[in-house]
Amino acid sequence: MTIPLLAETIGLETAVAYAYLVAIVLFILGLKMLTSVKTAAWGNAISAIGMAIASVATLLLFNQDAPPGQNYAISLAWILVAVGIGTAIGLAMAVKVPMTGMPQMVAILNGFGGIASLLVASAEYLRTANPSEIPIHILIATGLAIIIGGVTFTGSLVAFAKLQGLVTGSPIFFPMQKTVNALLLVAAAGLITVVIYQPDQELALASVAVIALILGVGLVIPIGGADMPVVISLLNSYSGLAASMAGFVLGNTALIVTGALVGASGIILTNIMCTAMNRSLANVLFGGLGVSSTTTSSAPDAKTKKGKAREFTLDDAVIILDAARQVVIVPGYGMAVAQAQHAVKELADALEERGITVKYAIHPVAGRMPGHMNVLLAEANVPYEQLCDLETINPEFDNADVALVIGANDVTNPAARHAKDSPIYGMPILNVDKARTVFVIKRSMNPGFAGIENELYYLPNCGMLFGDAKKVVNSLVKQLTESG
Ligand code: TAP
Repeated sequence: MTIPLLAETIGLETAVAYAYLVAIVLFILGLKMLTSVKTAAWGNAISAIGMAIASVATLLLFNQDAPPGQNYAISLAWILVAVGIGTAIGLAMAVKVPMTGMPQMVAILNGFGGIASLLVASAEYLRTANPSEIPIHILIATGLAIIIGGVTFTGSLVAFAKLQGLVTGSPIFFPMQKTVNALLLVAAAGLITVVIYQPDQELALASVAVIALILGVGLVIPIGGADMPVVISLLNSYSGLAASMAGFVLGNTALIVTGALVGASGIILTNIMCTAMNRSLANVLFGGLGVSSTTTSSAPDAKTKKGKAREFTLDDAVIILDAARQVVIVPGYGMAVAQAQHAVKELADALEERGITVKYAIHPVAGRMPGHMNVLLAEANVPYEQLCDLETINPEFDNADVALVIGANDVTNPAARHAKDSPIYGMPILNVDKARTVFVIKRSMNPGFAGIENELYYLPNCGMLFGDAKKVVNSLVKQLTESG
C-alpha cells in the first residue's frame, strides 16, 4: 500500500508516522549491514530506500495546505530542481572521486550536513512571527543545532583542505589557542542562554552562528593531517547531533532518530580508531601530533642505532616464497601510496598457482582511514574470505612460512607489546615476527606514522626488500612466473 493510499484510510499524519517508522527500521538494518564488507553495498541501498521513503513522506505532509498561522513557503517545483542538481553533483562525484579521496569527500558531506542543520534551525526561528512563543526546549535545540552545525561546517572544510593539500597538513598553532577556543565556547553558551531568556534577541543567535563558524576552524587547525580521519569521524558524529537538534526544532521524529543514529555511529567509529591507535580522543584533539611520516625524523639507510637490518635480494625472496606453504600478506599505508593493490593480487595469484595458501592480515588502523586496506584490496578483486582481521590472523602467524609486509610499519612493531615508553605501547599489533620468515617491502628505514623505529627490522628472521611497493611486488611476480 502506498503512502497516499494509506493516508486516505488512516489520515495523512498517521500514515507519515508509519512511513517514518519504516524508514528508521531500514536505516538501522542498513547500518548493521554496513558493518560487514559482504553486506555493505546492500546496507547502503537499504538505507537509501529508507531515506527515499522518509523524504516522500515529508513532502506529502508539507504539500497540503498549511494550518492557520503557519507558513510553510514550500514549493515542490523548487524542491525537485534542488533534488535534480544534487543528484547530478552526487553522480559526478561518485564517478570522479578516487577511493583514496574518500576521507575528503566524507569531510565535505559532513560539512554540508552541519550547515544544513544550522540553516534549518535559523530559518525556523526567523519564520516564527513571535519568538517569545517558542517553547524553551525548542530554543535550546535551535541554539545547539546552530553551534554544532557551524562547528561541523567550518571544521569539515578545514579537514577537507588539509587532506586535499590546499593548506599544510601540519598542525597550525597560534598564541593562547586553547584559551581562545574555550572562551569562544563559553561566549556561545552565554549567548544561547540570553536567547532562552529573551527569545527575540535575533542578534545574539546570529552571533552564536558566527562564533560557531570561527570555533570550527580554531578546533581543527591544530590537528595534524594524518589525524584527520579521526577528526572527520568525530565531525560526522557532530553532523548527526546537529541534525537531531534540527529534528527537535522541526518536530520531525525521522530526523531526530536519523541524526541520533549518525551521531552514535560516528562516535563509535571515532572510539574504535582511537583504541586501535592506543590514543585517547583528547590526545588526538589537543595533542598536536599527527604530522605525516614524511616530516618526521628518519634514518636514511639500513644502519640505525639498533644495528643493521638485513637486506634481502629479490632472488633470495623468490626462493623462500617458492618453498613456502602458507604466506600471510600484511598491507599498510605504503601499499596505498604505491597503489600496489593490483600487483599484490597478481602476486597472491602466482603464489596460489603454486599451491601456496595466501591470506591477508588487516589491521584496523592500517593505512590512514577506516577500512583503507579492505577498500583497496576489494578494488583489486581480492576475495573477502581471504581478508582476516587482527584477532583471526594473529594465531596463524605461528604456522606461517612467510609474512610479507607491504608498506606497513607501525602495525607490525613488536615494541607495542613491551616498550612502555613507546608512543604505540599497548596498541594491538599484527604478530608478524612469529612467522618463520618476514619480508618487509618499503623504500627506506624511514619510520611510519608514529615516527618511531620498528624493532621488527632487526630480528634475525626479518629481511628488508627496499623499493617502491608496486615495483618490488611486480618484480616478485615476474621472477616467480619466469621461474615456472
Ligand atoms: P605506517 O606505520 O604509517 O608506515 C607506512 C610505511 O609505508 C612507511 O614506513 C613508509 O616507509 C612506507 N611507504 C610509503 N610509501 C611507500 C611506497 N611507495 N612503497 C613502499 N613503502 C612505502 O603505516 P601502517 O603500518 O599502515 O600504520 C598506520 C599508521 O597510521 C598507524 O600508526 C595508525 O595509528 C595511523 N593512523 C591510522 C588511521 C586509520 S583510520 N587507518 C588514522 C590515523 C592514523 P618508507 O618511507 O621507507 O617507504
